[in-house]
Amino acid sequence: MLAWAMIVASAMAVSAASPWSTIPLQRKDTTSRNHARTALPDSDVFHDMFMALSDMQDAYFQRWLGTWPEGIDWTRAVVNTHVAATLRTISDELELARPAKTAECATRKEELIAGYFADVIAYYFGEDAFALRNQAYDDMLWVVLGWLESIRFVDEHGRLISSGASAGGAETWYGSRWIPAFAHRARIFWELAAKGWDTTLCGGGMLWNPRLMPYKNAVTNQLFISASISMYLHFPGDANASPFRTNATLDQPPPARTVDWRAHDPIFGRAAQEAHRWLAASNMTNPQGLYADGFHISGHPAGSNNTKCDTRDEMVYTYNQGVILSGLLGLFQATGREVYLREGHALVQNVIRATGYDLRRDAPVDKVSTARLPPWRGLGRAGVLEEACDVRGTCSQDAQTFKGIWMHHFASFCAADALDGKHVRYADNTEMSEAVLARIRERHGEGCRRYLPWLRRNARAAMGTRDGKGLFGMWWTAGLFEIARAQVEEEMVKPVPPLPVEEDGDEDMVDYRNDGVPYNQVWMKIADLPKGTPPPKDEAAGQGQQQKPLGGGDKTKRHDKRGTKEEGGAWDPNLRGRGRTVETQSGGLAVLRALWVLSRHEL
Ligand SMILES: *[C@@H]1O[C@H](CO)[C@@H](O)[C@H](O)[C@H]1NC(C)=O
Ligand SMILES: *[C@@H]1O[C@H](CO)[C@@H](O)[C@H](O)[C@H]1NC(C)=O
Ligand SMILES: *[C@@H]1O[C@H](CO)[C@@H](O)[C@H](O)[C@H]1NC(C)=O
Repeated sequence: MLAWAMIVASAMAVSAASPWSTIPLQRKDTTSRNHARTALPDSDVFHDMFMALSDMQDAYFQRWLGTWPEGIDWTRAVVNTHVAATLRTISDELELARPAKTAECATRKEELIAGYFADVIAYYFGEDAFALRNQAYDDMLWVVLGWLESIRFVDEHGRLISSGASAGGAETWYGSRWIPAFAHRARIFWELAAKGWDTTLCGGGMLWNPRLMPYKNAVTNQLFISASISMYLHFPGDANASPFRTNATLDQPPPARTVDWRAHDPIFGRAAQEAHRWLAASNMTNPQGLYADGFHISGHPAGSNNTKCDTRDEMVYTYNQGVILSGLLGLFQATGREVYLREGHALVQNVIRATGYDLRRDAPVDKVSTARLPPWRGLGRAGVLEEACDVRGTCSQDAQTFKGIWMHHFASFCAADALDGKHVRYADNTEMSEAVLARIRERHGEGCRRYLPWLRRNARAAMGTRDGKGLFGMWWTAGLFEIARAQVEEEMVKPVPPLPVEEDGDEDMVDYRNDGVPYNQVWMKIADLPKGTPPPKDEAAGQGQQQKPLGGGDKTKRHDKRGTKEEGGAWDPNLRGRGRTVETQSGGLAVLRALWVLSRHEL
């Protein structure tokens, strides 16, 4: 931490005049438990983001195993993505905006970044790639995104280091030696996942899980869009033919290959566009303009010939509104078509509205008081993003990861440097003129700037959930104002409200991410069901039926933390359920990083 303090001190001296330091972050209006760590001015957001990373790795990463042992395969892939993305953000700031004035400072900076980059490398080996190869298609695609993010960090940091005076020469940064390894894993997993694209049902779309009844869901399709366009833009090529050329030896280096995946292969771009076309036409958004979870194919379990995606699971999760955002930015960068950006802004605005926030007035729509929990608005309340399971304290390990994912992709979409000229090309590969791009950049930046007050509110809420060790909780709203225990308990016995606008909107709503995949014919293949399982009924699938969590890990395990008292004696709703975990920490990290990268629009 000493190195950090020194860098920050020298950096703050440089940026004291930046408008950044004049933007106040409102204080949490209570005297509260998280006293020392609650209210922080914006000028500290960068520091807080760093601390969220540092606390995450200290508390949850085991270097001797190269992983976060309490994660599960897919959540670890996401956490690794956050680490790599945060390193890129730190590198940008330290190398560009706060150039080192002394050689010693330069060395300290490099040590700081390299220390966490070592964790990324350790995780490359700690990742259970073999297990992931046999999981669902969405699991595989998180892996792709993670290694592409790592490549982007290495690439940008290497460029900054070797162009900076501090490097003392243009030697390539050592991290770039890892690019072929990361690229190889990204390519292998993209190829595996691409097998999930299916045209026999619903005219296209990705299947969620090859071992269940066909289910075409938002997340797998959004991931395929984002991962594919990111492969198109950032994958540097892969000359490593493993695992197909098992004969390869060290004296047969890659030039002797038979398989060659090149950078900017149009196959990736086409996959992204095709998947986007399918999703846009799939009728997967609800009346609030939010993605429902996905589609079953009615009658399919009973052997009917129906091939249409016609039975929608109305469950709304935050991450289903997020992953596509980085894909839409990528599609714009690859084609120059601004319509993709407009689609992204519309979705972001729908999300913000569904947290009960009015962007025009820059205020929550409901009166926020400590005496009453404001009503659920579709994806949150009181202007804070929430998962439906948050208030109940029943979020699974999956759901604990969701808000961070939303923030990560939102940050990609709205980062102030997202529309750097060097990336934007038309579909025919000619470069967009600077004048045209400047106008689009201005419109896009204006849109993104409007989200900042809402984002600050969310970051402030998340920061308010930190405990004495700096660890973030799951339910951010509880960090914004004190909520009486009796009120929360009242909420807990109510059914999960899907939509405030429709009384009867919950017929086909199964919260399988929190409750486990229902053990019935809608979801499970007949062969996997116990004998005598009744065919699905018309009403809510899965209700009252036996349920069993799927996949590795203990997603629905409840940590025994029913004693919800913090040391100080105040009631802490974030100790319920699974409590604070590496996943909830990654959410806190992601919201702070999002705030940091968006706030650069105000400089
Ligand atoms: C592997 O090596 C054997 C023996 O040298 C050779 O016959 C075979 O073609 C090689 N396979 C590949 C995929 O290169
Ligand atoms: C879209 O989905 C909703 C919810 O399942 C359904 O009510 C509506 O009829 C669908 N619209 C079209 C055009 O298929
Ligand atoms: C499905 O199609 C086949 C061939 O057209 C037909 O024989 C069969 O009766 C159909 N099944 C149902 C359940 O409609």
